[in-house]
Amino acid sequence: MSFVYMKILESRPERYDIGMGLLTLGTLTKIKQQIAEHTHPGDQVLDLGCGTGTLAQMCIERGALVTGVDANSGMLAVAKRNSPSANYLNISLSNLDEHLGDESFDIILSTLAFSELTRAERIHVLKQIKRILKNEGKVLIGDEIIPENFFAKCFYYAFRLPMRLLTWVMTQTTTNAIPSFEDEVREAGMQIVNRKPFMLGMFILLEIKK
Ligand SMILES: C[S@@+](CC[C@H](N)C(=O)[O-])C[C@H]1O[C@@H](n2cnc3c(N)ncnc32)[C@H](O)[C@@H]1O
Repeated sequence: MSFVYMKILESRPERYDIGMGLLTLGTLTKIKQQIAEHTHPGDQVLDLGCGTGTLAQMCIERGALVTGVDANSGMLAVAKRNSPSANYLNISLSNLDEHLGDESFDIILSTLAFSELTRAERIHVLKQIKRILKNEGKVLIGDEIIPENFFAKCFYYAFRLPMRLLTWVMTQTTTNAIPSFEDEVREAGMQIVNRKPFMLGMFILLEIKK
């Protein structure tokens, strides 16, 4: 499904931010604001799956130097307008090994991009993050997960699925929840130092270290 979403997003990047604002009821913006608060002037920041560059711009406004990576050239065209002073790499997250050096970033962040990858791709990207991150650096990933709590799961299926359908009809964009993301982070050899749930645990913001 994510391939289909990618192709549709590619043709509608101008509508992406409206679609995601609707789908997440503003939660995505809140997560991005909290991620940006971890950045400081002069930090080398890498945004994986940067989309339309809204998070990159929040970090740049705090004085960080941002590189955004995205495979979708239509999304990057919008990003270049939203955040013209970031650097951009128009590559797949599967090819980070060919483009980014060891221990080259202070902060690596990502929102709603891991949920567009397969499990094998996520593990590969997480291992690359471990290589690219400076030893004292940190990783912040905000993404959609399938909640573990029974009541949250009921809410997820009762509320999120119709919302996804409605958003799909209106904007042709959506997201896919990840079943056990924290296990994948540990499998890639990194530690979770903080976890913050949003919207009854349907979204998670993870702070990760090597
Ligand atoms: C749901 S959007 C999230 C965009 C942005 N991070 C945000 O939160 O607004 C997912 C982004 O990840 C990018 N993406 C998905 N799979 C990718 C891959 N394998 N390589 C590079 N970018 C990818 C898509 O092109 C898209 O811009």
